[in-house]
Parts: sequence; C-alpha cells; structure tokens
Amino acid sequence: MIELKDVTHAYGDRPVLRGISLRLEERRIGLIGANGSGKSTLARLLNGLIVPDSGQVLVDDLDTRKQARAVRRKVGFVFSNADSQIIMPTVAEDVAIGLRDRGLPKEEAATLVAEILARYGLGDHHDHQAHLLSGGQKQMLALAAVLVTQPEILVCDEPTTLLDRRNVRIVVDTLRSLPQQVILLTHQLETLADFDRVLVVSEGRVAFDGPPAEAVDRYIELIDSEVVPAR
Ligand SMILES: Nc1ncnc2c1ncn2[C@@H]1O[C@H](COP(=O)(O)OP(=O)(O)OP(=O)(O)O)[C@@H](O)[C@H]1O
Ligand SMILES: [Mg+2]
Repeated sequence: MIELKDVTHAYGDRPVLRGISLRLEERRIGLIGANGSGKSTLARLLNGLIVPDSGQVLVDDLDTRKQARAVRRKVGFVFSNADSQIIMPTVAEDVAIGLRDRGLPKEEAATLVAEILARYGLGDHHDHQAHLLSGGQKQMLALAAVLVTQPEILVCDEPTTLLDRRNVRIVVDTLRSLPQQVILLTHQLETLADFDRVLVVSEGRVAFDGPPAEAVDRYIELIDSEVVPAR
C-alpha cells in the first residue's frame, strides 16, 4: 500500500504539489487533471523517481527517500514518453534487461521475453532496433519491459496516448486484467469507467477523490469554469 503524508514538492521556487495526503489501497486508481496540474509529479513520487520536499511517501512502509531501490523493485513505472524508457539497442534486449537480476537460466529468460513480446504484438520485432519502432510500438515495448519484471504495483503515466484503437484496447484490457494494483494517469477519461477510485488533481491539490463518473464530472466542471485568456 502506498501512503502519502502531507507531501509537498516544488521545482525551484514553483510549488507543484501542495500538501497531499493519501492512502492508495484500491486495485484500480485513476489520476486525471489539466495539463500542468501535477499528475506526473505525483506519479513520480510514488516510486521514488522524485522525493518530496516535505512530508513522506511510504510504499509498504518503505520510505521512498531512504529505500528508493527497494521501492523501485515494488513499483513499476511506465513513462508517457517511451523513448526515455528504452535503454537497449534491440527490442528483445530491452525487455531482457529487466530480468538480469533474476538469475534465470538464459533459455528461460529468452522464453519469457519472446512470450511477452508476442502478447504485446511485438513478436515480429524481436531483433529489430528498439528506437526504430513506431511511437505506439514503443509504448507497447515500454509496458512489456516493465511487466516482465512483475512489479507489485504499476504506475502508468499516459501509456495509451500514442496508441491506435487496437493497441489502446490491448493496453487497457491488460491493465484491467493484471493482478497487480494499477495507478493510471490519463486524459482518455472513458478508460477509467470501471476503476475503483479516481483522483482529480488541480493546481497541485487533490480536488476530488471518489468514483469515476463523479470524478469526470468534477474534472469537466473545473476545466469549464476556467476563464480562457483572450488572444
Ligand atoms: N523537471 C521539471 N522542472 C521544472 N518544472 C517542472 C518539471 N517537471 C514539471 N514541471 C512543472 O510542474 C508543473 C506540473 O507538471 P506535471 O508534469 O506534474 O503536470 P501533469 O499534470 O503531469 O501535466 P500533463 O497533463 O501535461 O502531463 C508544470 O507547471 C510543469 O511545468
Ligand atoms: Mg504528465
């Protein structure tokens, strides 16, 4: 279970998260909010990619500030920009690197990699250059490379933004069927319809916390109430 205790974060002198306290226990949690509202910053706090300026983030009682390595093993993170997640030259190597600490026999690791690539529609790209995949294929690769490590919790920052309809369905169905806890950031609000809980982030605070339909209504209200600056 992830717990945030009065967390604040600023970039330089710009406050981005302002006193957030949460217990994230539900299996499917969505995070929505305007561009720049602080969602990605909040997501990055959950696996210790960012540590809070004040307050604490605990993952099963591990403090992200002190036990970042252990936290990262539990919490997998899928970035919205898949390019920043690709670290190896070929598709298969990029997935295999996540298994390197497992001490699996080579053949077993290779079988796991081939299986997961096939499941995510990348079977034909096994030995291709990862950076030459299409944008959507890179997002599928990023997801496969994280899932192969079997994290207990998965944080996904807009994993479907670049995907075509078919791949959106594959990713969303995958996230639904995973036994792990999933925390999903998205602007595709319909994706969250059957989630257990949705948080609406606004100007670095949680403006709403509850069922998806109400969260979406609240989000739309918030956006529509803003005065759009005249050109
Ligand atoms: N590394 C950084 N350095 C400085 N400012 C940053 C950095 N990352 C984010 N910010 C700022 O923090 C604020 C929140 O950014 P964040 O990426 O958390 O928003 P977001 O809700 O994920 O937005 P989006 O929907 O566009 O992804 C923005 O004003 C952004 O400019
Ligand atoms: Mg973001």
